[in-house]
Amino acid sequence: MLNDVKEVLFSEEDIAAKVTELGAQISKDFAGKELVVIGVLKGANVFVADLIRKMTIPIELDFMAMSSYGSSTESSGVVKILKDLDKGIEGKNVLIVEDIIDTGLTLSYLTDNLKSRGAEQIKICTLLDKPGRRKAHIDVKYKGFDIPDEFVVGYGIDFAEKYRNLPFVGILKEETYQ
Ligand code: IMP
Ligand code: MG
Repeated sequence: MLNDVKEVLFSEEDIAAKVTELGAQISKDFAGKELVVIGVLKGANVFVADLIRKMTIPIELDFMAMSSYGSSTESSGVVKILKDLDKGIEGKNVLIVEDIIDTGLTLSYLTDNLKSRGAEQIKICTLLDKPGRRKAHIDVKYKGFDIPDEFVVGYGIDFAEKYRNLPFVGILKEETYQ
């Protein structure tokens, strides 16, 4: 598994420091408010688990799972909800937690969908962002790191369901997916 990684972009320590920072900022911004944290499965699972433990405010945690049709390394924007929220979010402050934003098509669909359910506000937190690849505008309030246009894995992020359990984020060798 380690042999398939070309370069480590963010170590376990880099990520932990950033997650602590983001948790503190979110806790400050939502102090005194009720916050529903929505983790987008499966990729954001590891990130959201660490992030909520760095939040010092009361939260509710829920998950959604989406499938995006497309090639193995690129989404198409045609999105299907595989697992929906357990509860309604009408009048709630919502924080969507994503692993990585690439074209933005998945999150664009998701935010429109959640807006239509009457949330008070919807903010986005992503660990990684590939701003150079954006096709839909996304207002990212909390961001871990910008990354170049490379296919990355680890810390919850997969290629063909593998590599999610790497503790760091690294660039996958091209020969692994070509
Ligand atoms: P978007 O709709 O193009 O923004 O796609 C976002 C989703 O595509 C992410 O939540 C990931 O599941 C997946 N994705 C995008 N870039 C990568 C990558 O470099 N490695 C692994 N998955 C990725
Ligand atoms: Mg994802």
